[in-house]
Amino acid sequence: MLTLLEEMQTSDIDEVVAVIESHDEDDAAEAEASLRRVGGCMDMFVLRHNGKIIGVTGYSIPPGCDQTYWLSWTYVHADYTNQGFGRKILKELINHLKTLYARMLFVKVSDYVDDEDGAIYAAALHLYQSLGFKIELTHPDYYDEGEAQICLGLRLSEAPAMIADIDIPKENVPVEFNSVFEIPETNAAYTFSWHEEGERIFSKEDVIIGLQSVREKQGRIVFLSFPSNYNGIKQPLLEAGFKESGKLPDYYEDGIHDQHYTYKF
Ligand SMILES: CC(C)(COP(=O)(O)OP(=O)(O)OC[C@H]1O[C@@H](n2cnc3c(N)ncnc32)[C@H](O)[C@@H]1OP(=O)(O)O)[C@@H](O)C(=O)NCCC(=O)NCCS
Repeated sequence: MLTLLEEMQTSDIDEVVAVIESHDEDDAAEAEASLRRVGGCMDMFVLRHNGKIIGVTGYSIPPGCDQTYWLSWTYVHADYTNQGFGRKILKELINHLKTLYARMLFVKVSDYVDDEDGAIYAAALHLYQSLGFKIELTHPDYYDEGEAQICLGLRLSEAPAMIADIDIPKENVPVEFNSVFEIPETNAAYTFSWHEEGERIFSKEDVIIGLQSVREKQGRIVFLSFPSNYNGIKQPLLEAGFKESGKLPDYYEDGIHDQHYTYKF
């Protein structure tokens, strides 16, 4: 049961955007666009203090995964930080997710260092790690040259015994690329969208066509990821110049990871 947090309403958007703006205007603009979409406030929660919204947190559910969640916009107004509110709202959200039988919770954070304000996400990184999140993956130059994305994960349900020994058979799943697009919140970092269609797995030549298209759009870097149990993914990517860049463990289900690849121009 939630005691501190309240479900966010669309009428709360202006106050929530002000909370985020107290830290970063660009984040506030991105968050506002997302919150104003239909259903954008779903699974978001606010913290009120003396009637005023001073904190926000929430989660999203990636498709195709077994009880996996991402932490979404989590902010405490800059006038109220370092008083324990962030820890309280995160603990309450984590407990709420446990009641929903969540298995894994992931969060992304930037290592951005502002000229005036310093490492603005350092408190978040500290807080997540002190709550048990572990750094699973770091993507250098993700948001921009010199600004990495750090992905952390927290197991919320008990791990099955001998998880390392789970033998997940490789599957022959056909995979086709359908477009290339710039990743939101980044400067010229791209990814390819893909679906499970066609007769075969993409070839090295298909990958090179995608890279050519990103090059024409002046992309800096390309990030891709696939379930670790798909057969034949690694070879065409490595042959086209991608490098393996780590994995989010047990992302799809216990024993099936999200395997990441990076190509730098
Ligand atoms: C992250 C955030 C939500 C934390 O809220 P908060 O109310 O300040 O959190 P708390 O007071 O419960 O805890 C803050 C912790 O960070 C630590 N901290 C503060 N500044 C820090 C810094 N520059 N470097 C490392 N740790 C720092 C505090 O010591 C405290 O840790 P402790 O409890 O072990 O002493 C808030 O700082 C914030 O909104 N930051 C900007 C947005 C953000 O980074 N969001 C997450 C990424 S989307």
